[in-house]
Amino acid sequence: MTLTITPFDSPIGAEVTGIELRHALDKSMVETIYQAWLDNIVLIFRGQSLSKDEQIAFANQFGNVGIRATPKDAQNEVANGYDGSIMLVTNQRDERGNYIGSLQDGEMWFHHDMSYRPEPHKATLLHAIELPSTGGNTKFANQYLAYENIPQEIKELLFGRKVLQAYNFTMLEKVDLKESLDGIQHQWQPIFVRHPETGKTALYVSRLISAAIEGLERQESDEILGQLIDIAEDPSVVYEHIWQPGDLAMWDNRCSTHARTDFPATEARLLRRCTLEGAPMISGS
Ligand code: SIN
Repeated sequence: MTLTITPFDSPIGAEVTGIELRHALDKSMVETIYQAWLDNIVLIFRGQSLSKDEQIAFANQFGNVGIRATPKDAQNEVANGYDGSIMLVTNQRDERGNYIGSLQDGEMWFHHDMSYRPEPHKATLLHAIELPSTGGNTKFANQYLAYENIPQEIKELLFGRKVLQAYNFTMLEKVDLKESLDGIQHQWQPIFVRHPETGKTALYVSRLISAAIEGLERQESDEILGQLIDIAEDPSVVYEHIWQPGDLAMWDNRCSTHARTDFPATEARLLRRCTLEGAPMISGS
């Protein structure tokens, strides 16, 4: 088999074929894939069939697999024998009618994984196992390009400022800042971040999780966040992935956001997710 990495005709992402991820990779292959991931932000490996342990072993070649932010006693997966590193992204239920996983149904707004944590995980690996006949696509947005597209006067206003990232574990709704943040995971993060490995600057806001800009009155903060979010999700920076069973997507949470399109609630969707630990975000200015 010959490894082939083909960038999509899109602002983000590449397809990878000619590799079986369930086998350990040699050092040069790990380096090649890691560099392709840094360059393309999202890699889609086709035609894989990984067990949970094989997915973890593949991920561990690129960093330490991370523990989820959701408390263990609130994870449906733990009740089903998982250890806190795996998320089953699924609407499936057990025989008693309880969900077996997380992020179950419907559309999900753009977000970075774990931007509401002090050390957001750098990568997410999502493996498609069962898919609906239509919808449930994942959109990826290139946040280096989004940063470049911000008007200079807005950049100057925002250089060095922080944004409040807060997540109440819904899929289509921001936190309500009129309510207390007690019990809601949240973190002030740089609005512009410098990628620790590429050195490039990326926008670090999202529709789902970014709630307020440091030092601005509420109205101005909402208006500017709205402008930034439009830039962050502009179709010119987005690739929409239509999943095939066996795909494994690996994306960089430091320079991309992702979202999910709606799909029929009557049809099963099951993807297995793990992440790689990251580090505190670095200000891009
Ligand atoms: C996620 O945000 O990790 C889930 C994306 C998806 O279900 O497509």
